[in-house]
Amino acid sequence: MKVRVLGSGAGGGFPQWNCNCSNCSRLRNGRINAVARTQSSIAVSTDANNWVLFNASPDIRTQIENFPAIQPKTGIRDTGIRAVILIDSQIDHTTGLLMLRESNKPLNIYCTEMVRQDLTTGFPVLKMLGDYCGVDQHGIPLDGQGFEIPGIDDLRFYSHALKSKAPPYSPHRHDPHEGDNIGVTIEQISSGRKLYYSPGLGAIEPHVRQAMQDADCILVDGTFWREDEMERAGISKKKASEMGHLPQSGDNGMISVLNRFPDTRKILIHINNTNPILDEDSDERRILESAGIEVARDGMEINL
Ligand code: MLT
Ligand code: MN
Ligand code: ZN
Repeated sequence: MKVRVLGSGAGGGFPQWNCNCSNCSRLRNGRINAVARTQSSIAVSTDANNWVLFNASPDIRTQIENFPAIQPKTGIRDTGIRAVILIDSQIDHTTGLLMLRESNKPLNIYCTEMVRQDLTTGFPVLKMLGDYCGVDQHGIPLDGQGFEIPGIDDLRFYSHALKSKAPPYSPHRHDPHEGDNIGVTIEQISSGRKLYYSPGLGAIEPHVRQAMQDADCILVDGTFWREDEMERAGISKKKASEMGHLPQSGDNGMISVLNRFPDTRKILIHINNTNPILDEDSDERRILESAGIEVARDGMEINL
């Protein structure tokens, strides 16, 4: 299985257009050992021609232009994107669907019922696309059954509900439902190799721990280092947990969770621009390195 990190940043990307935090300003001034990041998305394939996209970020045009394997190859209109799986309905994961409106076929979109509701009410992109390329929307089972996608050979997808958050615009932002956010295990059927992907993870429930345990590679929420990171940066009073993200530091933080899987490859993704781990010379980055945890960057490829 080939996994391409299209975008490794959280909503807003790095640097964020209006952000003057230490990371964003130092990146603009060339005073930080760090690279820019587009917003959260990965592409997965087994044959390097037919790709399933996880999430469609507002930066999708740049991401496609930086990745020849997914670009048009034959005919006047073509793409390597066979389907899009949405893990939630957040703006950074769904706005890119609008940029795919020129598709000459209906977009093949897989999402939960809750995400479908958000994307037909609060942000009705699935309805809007009806007047462009159209949408073939498919549900995602949350009962452990798993599903396959026609045209994507040798992969099976297993999803489960997560405790995270519906987006601020969602009619049920403060009324959590099963399927607002999901984690997905992607299994290559022939090899049995598994990636666990969960870029928005607020709490480690037993089924999450089990999925991590069973995976050969864990690609998870790296949004914040601290619970009060936004407040410390003087940006907002919102806590990481209120936004549905488990911070890396702290007694029950993501590092201590990942430490339980010493033999598994572990990579953080969906990094917010305020997170000190973006600075490759930071103490926080050293802590991750000594825990054997990698930080995703745009263009990173994972071969499983
Ligand atoms: C989040 O995951 O919390 C988002 O990145 C926030 C956003 O897109 O505004
Ligand atoms: Mn996000
Ligand atoms: Zn910033």
